[in-house]
Parts: sequence; C-alpha cells; structure tokens
Amino acid sequence: MGQEQWTSSVAAEWGIFLPPARPSLSELVVIETRLFERKKNNPGLRVGILGSTPEYRDLCQTYAIDYRCVDYRQDNFDTLGRHLLHPDGAERLIVSDWRKMEFPGQIDVWLGDLATTVTPVSDHRVMFENIRAHSRPGAEVILKVPLRADNTVLTHEQIFALYRAERAHLNPFAAVWIEVLLADYDFAADTMYCPTSRARLEESCRQGIVSEFEFGEFTKRWDVLGDFKMNIPLRSEFVARLREFFPVIKFTSGQDWYREQVPIIIGRY
Ligand SMILES: C[S@@+](CC[C@H](N)C(=O)[O-])C[C@H]1O[C@@H](n2cnc3c(N)ncnc32)[C@H](O)[C@@H]1O
Repeated sequence: MGQEQWTSSVAAEWGIFLPPARPSLSELVVIETRLFERKKNNPGLRVGILGSTPEYRDLCQTYAIDYRCVDYRQDNFDTLGRHLLHPDGAERLIVSDWRKMEFPGQIDVWLGDLATTVTPVSDHRVMFENIRAHSRPGAEVILKVPLRADNTVLTHEQIFALYRAERAHLNPFAAVWIEVLLADYDFAADTMYCPTSRARLEESCRQGIVSEFEFGEFTKRWDVLGDFKMNIPLRSEFVARLREFFPVIKFTSGQDWYREQVPIIIGRY
C-alpha cells in the first residue's frame, strides 16, 4: 500500500486548485440533483465523502443531508474545513484509509472527487471492495474520474499550441491539466509523478516551448503537491474493475469543456 501523499500543506493550498482538479459548479449540480432524487425516497439518506472535499460537505450541509467524510488525516479535514461556507465539526469525520475502512456503518451514496486519481491504480480494487462493504443494498458510488481512452500522448509543443489556439480564455493549469499529466505518464506503473512533470516543463520552458506564465501556473501547483502521484487509468480497465463491485454503471458529467475526459461515473450495487 502506498504512503499518505496528501499532506496538510497540500490541504492548506486547496484554494489555488481549479476544476477539473476540484468540483466545478456544473458537476455540483449533477451531484445535487442525484442527492435530491435519493433523499426524496429516503429522508434518512447517509452520504459518505471519500476525503474532505469542502464543496461536497457544503452541499450536504445546505440541504441537511447526513454525511461522513472518510479521510486518513484529521488535519486535512480541519484545514479543508476552513473553505466551508457552512462550517461542520469533527463528528462528521471517520479517520480511516480508503484501503482499510475498518469502521462500522453503512452508506447510501458515496461521493469521490478524484479520489481514485490520488490512490494508486493497484489499490483501486481494495478501495472498491471496501466501499461496497460499507454500502447499503441499492447504494450508489458517484466518482468523478479522469480517464484515458488509449495510450496516445501529446508533446508539450502540441499541448501548448492547443492551449493557445482553443483554450487561452482558461487558466493553463485547468485547460491542459490532463494533457500535461499524460505527457510524461509512466504507463507501466500507471501513474504520473509531479517532480517528473515539473522537470520536463522546466526543460520545455527553457527551450521556449512553454511560456514563463504557463510554466508558472503549473509549477506553483506542482510545488505545493511535491512528491505526489496521480493516475489517469484506461477507461475500459477502470470501468471493468468498478463493475466487479458495482455492476450497474452509468456515465454522466457536468457541462465543462473537459467532460469527455473526466466523466462522473455512477456505480450501483
Ligand atoms: C479533497 S479529497 C479528494 C481528492 C481531491 N479532489 C484532489 O484533487 O486531490 C483529498 C482528501 O482525501 C484524503 N485522502 C487522500 N488519500 C486518501 C486515502 N487513501 N484514504 C483516506 N483519505 C485519503 C486527503 O487527506 C485529503 O483530505
């Protein structure tokens, strides 16, 4: 099992991250609608949040939906809690690693924003198994997850040409985050590594392929994350793995430009 890479300094800098690296407003509408549908038939609905995502906590608080955050670090729960419009308390937290989940209790709807993205692909099966073990019959798991269709990668020249031609109205980190993650992806280990990405971007900046501004927008986030790995699994493999535990799978998304690459997957048990 991997280490705890999500340190409190990452949580403290949550404010500088942008969708797709955090929930967008249109994704929250999708989640809100789904929670309302479920709560209509089950007023005692219990939601489980994978991590301490402030946007999900606020959504549950706004509509008096009972929820628990499952997070391996109380300090991250507290630090991310500073971003809440509706403050909550420690009674909402279950301190546990998603790869262990040794606590009692069942959940009706699980929410995860990039939860699998920050968990090694080799641990996804045990994570899904644990989520399922803590699911009431008919429970749903709603995961926003960047996925790759195949192993095609773009060079930095191609990625930043795409950015300048079509996405220059967006912050470069948000606009080509996925393409940059895949540019130096380790397909054998099924992961990217922030220090590798940073070093390659630095080299491209030195060669004039990436501008100082574009480089700065990535590096300020890569420096906060530090020794951090993220994955963008193959869509077919990820879905097959999830289906072993949640046999009914539906795809949806928000309205964002990245919605094809970053679906919201609803798995039902
Ligand atoms: C906001 S959440 C979900 C991921 C987030 N959207 C992102 O971009 O990284 C991050 C939280 O998940 C927690 N976390 C990360 N990996 C975990 C694991 N394996 N088990 C439990 N909590 C974990 C971290 O402590 C952090 O508070």
